[in-house]
Amino acid sequence: MATTSKSASARKTSGRRRRSGRRDPLAVRLLKADHREAEGWFDEYEQLEDDADKLALFSRIALALKVHTTLEEEIFYPEERGDVEEDMLDEAYVEHDGAKKLIAEIEAMKPGDDYYDAKVKVLGEYIKHHVKEEEQPGGIFAQAKKGDEDLEAMGERMQARKDELMAEMAPAKAN
Ligand SMILES: [Fe+2]
Ligand SMILES: [Fe+2]
Repeated sequence: MATTSKSASARKTSGRRRRSGRRDPLAVRLLKADHREAEGWFDEYEQLEDDADKLALFSRIALALKVHTTLEEEIFYPEERGDVEEDMLDEAYVEHDGAKKLIAEIEAMKPGDDYYDAKVKVLGEYIKHHVKEEEQPGGIFAQAKKGDEDLEAMGERMQARKDELMAEMAPAKAN
C-alpha cells in the first residue's frame, strides 16, 4: 500500500514536470514578468478613485509599456526573425504602434477628462490581447523557444538595456 502511494506520487511529480517543461529562458522570463506587472497595474487602476493616484499609476504603466515595447522592437523581435513566423511578428509591431498611439492620447489628457478612464481600460484590453499572442501555445514566445537563438544571453542584454531605458525614458523630475 505504502509502495503504491509512493509510486503514484512519484508518477504525479514527473507528470507535472513533463507538462510544465523546462523553466523558460531568461529573455522570455523577463518579458513575461513585465506582462504580469502591467496586468496587475491595469487591475489596480480600476480600483482607483482619486485623480492624482490615477495619474501616478498611469505614468508608471506608460513608462513600463514604452520600455517593454522598445526592448522587444530593438532586441527580441528582430533577433527572432527567422525563428518566428513573419506575419506574427509583423502583427506584433502593428499592435505596438496601436498601443503607443493610445498611450500618447492618454498622456495628452488628464484624469477626470471625458473618456480618460475608458481609454485606459481599452489600452489594458488591447495589451491583454497582444500578450496572449506572445504567450499562447504556438505564439511568438513558444516559437522563439524552439528556435536557434540563445535566449539566456539575449536576456542578459535585454536586462542591461532595460536598465538604461528606464533611466532614459523616465519623465524628468520636476524641480
Ligand atoms: Fe511583450
Ligand atoms: Fe509585444
